[in-house]
Amino acid sequence: MNTVYITRRERFNAAHKLWNPAWDDQKNEEMFGKCSNKNWHGHNYNLFVTVKGTPKADTGYCMDLKVLKDIINEYIIEDLDHKNINLDVAWMAGKMASTENIIIAIWDRLVGPISETGCTLHSLKLEETENNYAEYFGN
Ligand code: NI
Repeated sequence: MNTVYITRRERFNAAHKLWNPAWDDQKNEEMFGKCSNKNWHGHNYNLFVTVKGTPKADTGYCMDLKVLKDIINEYIIEDLDHKNINLDVAWMAGKMASTENIIIAIWDRLVGPISETGCTLHSLKLEETENNYAEYFGN
């Protein structure tokens, strides 16, 4: 009843490379194009975190967006912003740094802390470029 979905956007800038070490240079370049550049490249990512809940009688809020902002910053942005996703981010170690894998890893880090507030994480959207983004609903 009266379920409302609210979204907070946060941004981070990070470097990555898409590279499968099991493949030779040519196959990596064919598959990943510019994203296979050996000396890295960066994106200005936009992360949209949507939570759902019922507005509380005393505040009118489902969730205080300041609290959501703080959770996203603590668990995600501080680890990713101005970092190399392949090399610097422990929770992306050993994973292909694709938008798909990044968004799944972000979900896994946020779902617990958000549920502790009494709200429910509903979806994530991660924009890698103006034209490319992924969405994830937790399964
Ligand atoms: Ni890229």
